[in-house]
Amino acid sequence: MRNVELKARDPDPARTLERALALGAEDMGEIRQVDTYFAGARGRLKLREQETDGPTLWDELIEYARPDSTDARTSAYTRVPVADVEPLREALDAAYGTLVTVTKRRHLLLWQGVRIHLDEVEGLGSFVEFEALADTGPDLTAEREKVERLRAELEVEDANLIATSYSDLILEGGGAAAEGGDSAEQLLRAAEAVMRTAHVPYSRFPVGAALRGSDGRVYAGSNVENASYPQGQCAETSAIGALVAAGQTEITEVAVVAEQADICPPCGGCRQRLAELASPDTPVHLGRPGGPRQTTTVGELLPLAFEFEPPG
Ligand code: THU
Repeated sequence: MRNVELKARDPDPARTLERALALGAEDMGEIRQVDTYFAGARGRLKLREQETDGPTLWDELIEYARPDSTDARTSAYTRVPVADVEPLREALDAAYGTLVTVTKRRHLLLWQGVRIHLDEVEGLGSFVEFEALADTGPDLTAEREKVERLRAELEVEDANLIATSYSDLILEGGGAAAEGGDSAEQLLRAAEAVMRTAHVPYSRFPVGAALRGSDGRVYAGSNVENASYPQGQCAETSAIGALVAAGQTEITEVAVVAEQADICPPCGGCRQRLAELASPDTPVHLGRPGGPRQTTTVGELLPLAFEFEPPG
């Protein structure tokens, strides 16, 4: 299945609702949803638990891929109804690790085949979302036009458009900021979640690292070993690769979590790699989410760092 989608912060949900109803949108009522996102899955995988005061809705497993963009974007997805959600959540948590949960109240309206979502997301605030369900043909012009019309009629401003998902916003710290939460704790949680993806058949010592880029987003990686054991790659190095591959050039905060150590200080080589993109006062959190932790800095970990000015 495919959608053409648009998401934006909504400074005035009551007004948006009024305009949508005035356009002739049908009010489908409210749905309470809890989405659990899993860390180690390729693409995006979430388990949606949902209820309404009216008809019973199936819980669903949703797998999807979607580019990050503020333009109306196409999202390809698969939805599978789930009859017994609890054991599935536990199994997926064991297999992939839980990345984050997103809890929201969704007011659903339907307008010419487009779903309008007025979402109140715990810790993040109010959002409006349009989802135009597309058939399998290559031409999405009609769906794009409907989304653009809604965007104009409901006066969604460019500055409010959101390129990413609610889970990304929470991991980026939007949730922490809104809840007066703790950025270190969020990074440690992301590090712990990605740690479960570690490929460590030789050491059996899983490590996860999470880095914040200057865009505020979190980039995570785990250690990856190979048969020529000393050539394995540390979690910090994997996370640096993810950050650089996303076009980022700066590390503003670091967290490292190891399954079998209370504190896992980065190895010597990774200190130099972190120093390349961080500054000496960049904080480094070592520990576990919710547990004791030690916060140091890249400069403390690597005093007298080697620096090299390329010639010319
Ligand atoms: N390791 C990391 O990934 N990060 C660290 O900070 C220290 C060590 C990995 C390397 C190897 O895969 C395993 O832990 C045991 O040395």
